[in-house]
Amino acid sequence: MESTISKDNSGWWDGSIGYEIYIRSFVDSNGDGVGDLPGVTEKLEYLSWLGIDLVWITPFYPSPMADFGYDVSDYCGVDPIFGGLEDFDRLIEEAHRYDLRVIIDLVPNHSSSEHPWFLSSRSSVDDGYRGYYHWRDPAPSGGPPNNWVSHFGGSAWTLDEESEQYYLHLFLPEQPDLNWNNPKVIQEFDEILKYWLDRDIDGFRIDVAQGLVKNMLMPDNPTRFPITEDMSPRQVFAAFDHRYDLDQGGNLEIFRRWRKLVKPYDALLLGEVYLRDNDPNRVSRYVNSGDALHRAFYFAPMHVPWDPQSMWDTFRDALDAAPEDLSWALSSHDDPRAPTRFGEGREGKQRSLAYSTFLFFLPGLPFIYQGDELGLPSIEIQREDLADPVATRNADETDGRDGARSPIPWEKAHELGFTTGTPWIPMGDRTHEDTAEHQRITEGSWLKSYKELIRIRGEYLDPNTSLRWTSSRDSGVLAYRRGDTISALNVDTDDSFILLPEGEWEIVFQVGVVTVEFNEVTFGVNSAAILTLIIE
Ligand code: NOJ
Repeated sequence: MESTISKDNSGWWDGSIGYEIYIRSFVDSNGDGVGDLPGVTEKLEYLSWLGIDLVWITPFYPSPMADFGYDVSDYCGVDPIFGGLEDFDRLIEEAHRYDLRVIIDLVPNHSSSEHPWFLSSRSSVDDGYRGYYHWRDPAPSGGPPNNWVSHFGGSAWTLDEESEQYYLHLFLPEQPDLNWNNPKVIQEFDEILKYWLDRDIDGFRIDVAQGLVKNMLMPDNPTRFPITEDMSPRQVFAAFDHRYDLDQGGNLEIFRRWRKLVKPYDALLLGEVYLRDNDPNRVSRYVNSGDALHRAFYFAPMHVPWDPQSMWDTFRDALDAAPEDLSWALSSHDDPRAPTRFGEGREGKQRSLAYSTFLFFLPGLPFIYQGDELGLPSIEIQREDLADPVATRNADETDGRDGARSPIPWEKAHELGFTTGTPWIPMGDRTHEDTAEHQRITEGSWLKSYKELIRIRGEYLDPNTSLRWTSSRDSGVLAYRRGDTISALNVDTDDSFILLPEGEWEIVFQVGVVTVEFNEVTFGVNSAAILTLIIE
C-alpha cells in the first residue's frame, strides 16, 4: 500500500499547476510598451485552455521601477503603468470565473527609497519612521558599518550625507531593507496582507523570504573564499557565509504569524527562499513545521547541469529534506531560460520539455514561467538595450536578467502581438513559429505538448501520493513512482533503461524515443516518459 502524505500544508493548491506572469512582458493592452493588468485579463482564456490552476503575478504596485516593481512605493495600490485598482478587481473576478486562482507578489524585505516611510525615516534621526529601516553609524574607522554586500553589487550600505548614517539595502540603494525587528513594521504588513486578502486574492508569493530578519548586532559575515576584482556581484555575494543577514530564525516567526492571518481566507503562502548552495535542509525549515509557509521555491533545479550525478544530488537531497512542500520551476524572470541552459536549439527545447515531465509529477507545486510552454530560449540583448540594473550598474561583462524577460510572442502582428507600441525591452529574434497563436493550432508544437503533459498530469496523478524512487543513483535515468504513475527522465549521454515494478505499465506521455519491452523501458538521449499501471 502506498503511504499517503501528511496534510499539514495541504489545501486547494494540492495538485495545482502554477504559472508565473512577469507582468511587464506578458501583454500590453494600451500600447505604451509595458505589459499591464488588463493584458493579463485578456489572456485568462489562454491560461485556462493550457490547464493552469494558479497564476503568480509579479509586482504591479506603484514604484519608481528601479528594480522594475520590486521597489514598492505604495503597498496598497497599482502603478498607473499597469492599470488601476478597478483593473485589478476585474482581473481577480474574471480569473475566478475561469477557476484560476491568483497569488500576488509581496515584497516585504525592502521598500522603495521613495516610499513615504523611507522619505520620513530619512528626514531626521529622531523621525518616528527611522526605526522602520536599518540605520547605523559608520564603522569606527569610517566607511560602512560592516562587510555585508548587496546582491546587486557593492556594499549593502549607503551613506546618507545629511545624517551621516548609513542605511542597509541587500539589493539596490533604492531598495532600503525594512526592519523586521520593529513591531510597527510587522503591524503595517498585517494590514497590507489583509488589504489584498479582502480584495479576494488567493495568496502571496513572498519575495526574499530568507532575508526579512537580520541579526541586529550586525557582525561581519565570514568569507568563504577570497574575493577578486573580476568576480560578478553574484559571485561576490556567494563568497560570503551569510550567517547574519540571511536565514535568521526570526523569519519563521513572521511566517507563523502570517499563517494564522491567512487561514480564514484559505490563502497560500509561497516563499522565495533563495539560499546559498540551495541547501535543501535549510529551505525545508520554512515548510516542514507545518505552521509557517505552505510551499517554498527550491531553486537548485534551475541551475543544475544535464548530468546524472548532479541531477541525483539535487533531487534526492531536496526530496529527502522536504518530501511534500517544495515548489519547482524550470525558469524564472531572474535566471536564464531552460532551453538556453540546456543547450540552445532543438536539443535545449526537448530537454526542457523532458525535464518538465519530471518536475511536474513531483510532490509539491510546479510553476511554468511565461513562455516556457512555448519552448522559448532567452534572447540575446545588445549592450545598449540592457535595462536590468544588475547589468547596467555593473561591469560590462555582467549579463543581468533581461534575456529571460523579453515579451511573449502572441500572434502574427506588430511586435508579435505583445504591444501596438514599442516593447520596453526587445522581442529578440522570435518568429511567427514561436507565437502562441501558431503553436495552438500546430500538431507537435511545444505548446500542444505542454498542454498535453498538464492534461495527463490532471488525469493520472493522485496528488495525495508520496514519492518512491524506482531507479537508483547509478542510473542515468531518474525515475520515481507516485501511486499508479511513474515519471522518468534520461539525463545520460546515451540510451539508458529502467526496470518496471510488478504489473503491466503503459506509456501515456513521452518526449523523445522511449520503448517498453516486457518490464524494461529504454530511454533515448534527452527523453522522458510518464507511465501508468494498467494491470496490477
Ligand atoms: C527576487 C525577485 O524575483 C527579483 O526579481 C528581485 O530583483 C529581488 N527579489 C529583489 O526584490
